[in-house]
Amino acid sequence: MQHTTDAIKVENITFLYDDTVVLEKISFTVKTGELFFIIGGSGCGKTTLLRCMTGLLEPERGEIFYFGKDFLNNDSREREMLLKSFGVLYQSSALWSSMTIGENVSLPLEQYTRLDKNDRREIVALKLAQVGLAGTEELYPSELSGGMKKRAGLARALALDPKIVFFDEPSGGLDPVTSKEIDELILEVRDTLGTTMVIVSHQLSSIFRIADRIMVLDHTTKGIIANGTPHQLARMSHDPRVINFLNQS
Ligand SMILES: Nc1ncnc2c1ncn2[C@@H]1O[C@H](COP(=O)(O)OP(=O)(O)OP(=O)(O)O)[C@@H](O)[C@H]1O
Ligand SMILES: [Mg+2]
Repeated sequence: MQHTTDAIKVENITFLYDDTVVLEKISFTVKTGELFFIIGGSGCGKTTLLRCMTGLLEPERGEIFYFGKDFLNNDSREREMLLKSFGVLYQSSALWSSMTIGENVSLPLEQYTRLDKNDRREIVALKLAQVGLAGTEELYPSELSGGMKKRAGLARALALDPKIVFFDEPSGGLDPVTSKEIDELILEVRDTLGTTMVIVSHQLSSIFRIADRIMVLDHTTKGIIANGTPHQLARMSHDPRVINFLNQS
């Protein structure tokens, strides 16, 4: 039976770069509105998994369902519809440096909607305000701090009111104070909009601060070595790899 409350259901995803297995039989579910963290050491396949989930990479085997809809074995129109319901922030926040912040945030609206310029401008202002960047439309990415760039990236990811946001390393390159502010923003977005969020992170402080659930990937087994709330894993896991990861400073 299909779980109606599951926003995401990943089943037996196996992914190879050429003939090197990176992910092997990965299965998990994410509930609607959950802040779901994917963690694990560098090179264990977190970004690869995110790219499989957002259609940038094709897994060798397995299935992915979003709200019960088959993502991988669907016709391109249905897949496009699902893609439109995602907001994605890749590991390097990837704002276009030649475009202003307003133009960056407006981009998905131009690509995927028929809204006119005034409507687009209004939505851009709203999204920027939502992430604490009201009035920054005319600035260029180079004029923004690291934390502001993450906020702008989030505004762009939220432009189409996505049901699911994928965020690769929200704390990457940020100092602890700014990283905490981004965590608070993520939490606020989830609480106000009910967005399901899949977040890749190395940042233990973030994991313990905001994650509802974490899944730990392992480089050696290419699989999942733990899945639970951070406190469950920290208190109850007997796996030394998980304990080591969660207790590093
Ligand atoms: N384009 C590629 N071609 C071949 N191998 C790749 C490619 N991209 C990544 N890999 C390899 O796949 C494995 C997983 O990489 P991935 O980028 O998914 O790891 P990650 O968990 O996101 O790491 P990090 O925490 O450093 O971002 C690594 O061994 C990496 O070297
Ligand atoms: Mg990565």
